[in-house]
Amino acid sequence: MLPFPESGVFPLSVSRTPDDIARYMWLLSPGGQELLKRIREMAAEGGSDLRIAEQLRASYPADRVALAMTQHDLRLKARDKFAQADRLFFTRAGLEQATSNRIAAHRADRFASTGRMIDLCCGVGGDLMALASLPGIHHLAAVDLDPVHLLLAGANVAAIAPECEPRLIQANVRQVDLTAFEGVFIDPARRSTSGRFGGMDSEPPLEWALGLTDHVPAVGIKTAPGIPHDLVPQGWEMETISLGPDIKEAVLWSPALASGLATATVIAGDAVHQLRSIPGDVVPVRRPEAGQWLLDPNPAVTRAGLVENLARLLHAAKIDEEIAFLISDSLVETPFARSLPIIDALPWHEKRIRERVRELDGGPVDVRRRGLAGDVEAITRRLRGKGNRRLVIAMTRVQDEPWAVICDIA
Ligand SMILES: C[S@@+](CC[C@H](N)C(=O)[O-])C[C@H]1O[C@@H](n2cnc3c(N)ncnc32)[C@H](O)[C@@H]1O
Repeated sequence: MLPFPESGVFPLSVSRTPDDIARYMWLLSPGGQELLKRIREMAAEGGSDLRIAEQLRASYPADRVALAMTQHDLRLKARDKFAQADRLFFTRAGLEQATSNRIAAHRADRFASTGRMIDLCCGVGGDLMALASLPGIHHLAAVDLDPVHLLLAGANVAAIAPECEPRLIQANVRQVDLTAFEGVFIDPARRSTSGRFGGMDSEPPLEWALGLTDHVPAVGIKTAPGIPHDLVPQGWEMETISLGPDIKEAVLWSPALASGLATATVIAGDAVHQLRSIPGDVVPVRRPEAGQWLLDPNPAVTRAGLVENLARLLHAAKIDEEIAFLISDSLVETPFARSLPIIDALPWHEKRIRERVRELDGGPVDVRRRGLAGDVEAITRRLRGKGNRRLVIAMTRVQDEPWAVICDIA
């Protein structure tokens, strides 16, 4: 039996009709699952969407075929985020906002010894599934305004961690009594039905989420990766998280869960690499030269403000007090930065750089701009050579002068 949401205040801001809910309940039923299975099989045999839908409309009502076809498409898209996507259920907005299972599992670990846990704004359950899989949590509840998201979150947990059976509460998170809980995770919505909120706006707002510590000490808040550091209250930790080279999010951990002031996390395959503050000497500033290696830190490191710490870890130097490129005399293999062999480093004069690209038999160039203004796309087009050698050109400042650092792709 799938857990059905407890009734709560039906929010005016979520435009779900009883019909919407009934359609999704049908999708979760054995009949809906059977239709999804047929679509998967027909697609595996090479059938086009149009053809499959046409054939199925002979045996199913058109609206059910459309719902199941959309769900099939969402499952295909969800494979990037969820290893078990073919067993899960999504809405389009729910999938776009869902945390991928590798990040959710990493984050959930902080709550491993939190017995009574609540996931506020659970969406379709990206984070809820990871929390439900933690053996230490013996009471789990989840809240969302959207009854369809809550229904799907329940079904997704039932598919991944059937023994858990979280309590599903349809309500505005502001109206939920938190006294029974030891830990709260919240992933506020950063988009409304009409599109994305601007800047750091969210629903509920960050300020409200930070106030959760008035009720529960152990709080984790997912935010946008670009959160300004001055929005992080004293004693809280900001953890920035990348999946491979791409930054995905920042999480704010309340003092009860914090393990420092800032952490940069890079998840690569099954490995989780973490960089924290490393106290030590002032990092030297040096001019880059051919034969050295340019280190381009992972955005999790730059956003966490840990570039100096990375330099200490790698015994590297900075190229400028303010710029987040480092240099090293030898190749360093690190999950926290991309290492690029420097071919040449020269003051930024576009004409001279273009000539140099030609001399080097350069072809396509990847311009990495940091600390200088300019239209990267237009500059990339102008610098591109006719040769085969792929080059990276760091367009940056070296000791406050505009500079180009030309590198091979390692
Ligand atoms: C970013 S999504 C959550 C994604 C989720 N963590 C996941 O990984 O699947 C935000 C959710 O918050 C819900 N929401 C927004 N404002 C809310 C409020 N005031 N109370 C309850 N839920 C709310 C939305 O319906 C949406 O499902």
